[in-house]
Amino acid sequence: MARYQNLLIIYYSGTGNAKRVSEWIGAKAKEEGMNVVVTPFWKFLKEPLPEVGGNTLIGFCSATHGFNLPHSFLKLIFRFRAYPGSDVFLVNTRAGMKIAKLFIPGLSGLAQILPALVLWLKGYHVKAMRPVDLPSNWISLHPGLKKQVVESMVAHWKEKIDRFSAGLFNGKRTYWPAIISLPIDILIIPVALGYYFIGRFFIAKTFFATDRCNDCHLCLKACPTKSIILKDQRPFWKLTCESCMHCMNFCPQRAIETNHNILIPFLLILSILVNPWIANQTVNLSKQLIPDLLFLSPWIIMTLKWVVMIALFTGTYYAIHYLMHFRWFRKLMRWTTITQFRFWRRYKIPPTPLPHCQTQTSEP
Ligand SMILES: Cc1cc2nc3c(=O)[nH]c(=O)nc-3n(C[C@H](O)[C@H](O)[C@H](O)COP(=O)(O)O)c2cc1C
Repeated sequence: MARYQNLLIIYYSGTGNAKRVSEWIGAKAKEEGMNVVVTPFWKFLKEPLPEVGGNTLIGFCSATHGFNLPHSFLKLIFRFRAYPGSDVFLVNTRAGMKIAKLFIPGLSGLAQILPALVLWLKGYHVKAMRPVDLPSNWISLHPGLKKQVVESMVAHWKEKIDRFSAGLFNGKRTYWPAIISLPIDILIIPVALGYYFIGRFFIAKTFFATDRCNDCHLCLKACPTKSIILKDQRPFWKLTCESCMHCMNFCPQRAIETNHNILIPFLLILSILVNPWIANQTVNLSKQLIPDLLFLSPWIIMTLKWVVMIALFTGTYYAIHYLMHFRWFRKLMRWTTITQFRFWRRYKIPPTPLPHCQTQTSEP
């Protein structure tokens, strides 16, 4: 007999991993006789959560982005006020791989520790923290995994999640899978912060629709953060895009590409070589124009250099984003991207039948 009457899971999913895990847990809860609501986070932002009396367990289940939770999901957790004092659990799906028979885990970074801390400070009881290593969906960086590998990883994790759910509903606390990787997670916090404050704005903004696009607008409708709009009748990615990979993986025409192979080295060269040089030249010129600057402290000079470098980087980013409006630029990106080749597989979690699942779910 389960300890809880109700289960509410709020999830953030780009390519289905977090959604599927939420459904697996939901299906198990149904078997235990619990009332189950599984809802994507964007739906919860629009509609109030259902009034569920009694003892409710709340789950937050999300993809991991840049060693953290995606920005909009993190925002939701920071603002979450429903059912104060309830028991909660955290699941983050990560970029798993499989080499031969070995299942390789992804990395959580802040994706477990930060929401656990925030929810604990808000008075919630964090009962379980569970990273789940389903196939990596980051296909702007690598081709999607092969079908057999994906299927075997999904089957492997379905079993683990069933066991985890059974324990969870009976009050078992699970922290060890999150604690085991804590030393590495703590070490990579600087990278997580770098991605959150800088990286995500650049990495996410290199999507474009090629001439294969047949204007079905599915990407616009399905985008979880509503970050794709029409400009001159073409899909265009707004700055709010979180790079969840939904559009690129689900486009029926395979018309959505990204050009990380050119743009990321370009941005790196710019920030390591070109921008510091321009920043130095700017400071030298300022010293000539305003000789009093010579007497300024090295800290102020350093700050000035950083301001120039950040301004240049941001300017380049906006320039790339603006150039994506133009057909010739998109064509140039298309010719030079490796994601256009057939071997660059797309990824979405394969369907697995869930006979007992009557949960309230919908595609993002
Ligand atoms: C932009 C981006 C960043 C990612 N960062 C991480 C990461 O830091 N650590 C990790 O293990 N996986 C990372 N991944 C992989 C996804 O978190 C992983 O494949 C997840 O299972 C996808 O879940 P979904 O299908 O519900 O979107 C990243 C994926 C994307 C698209």
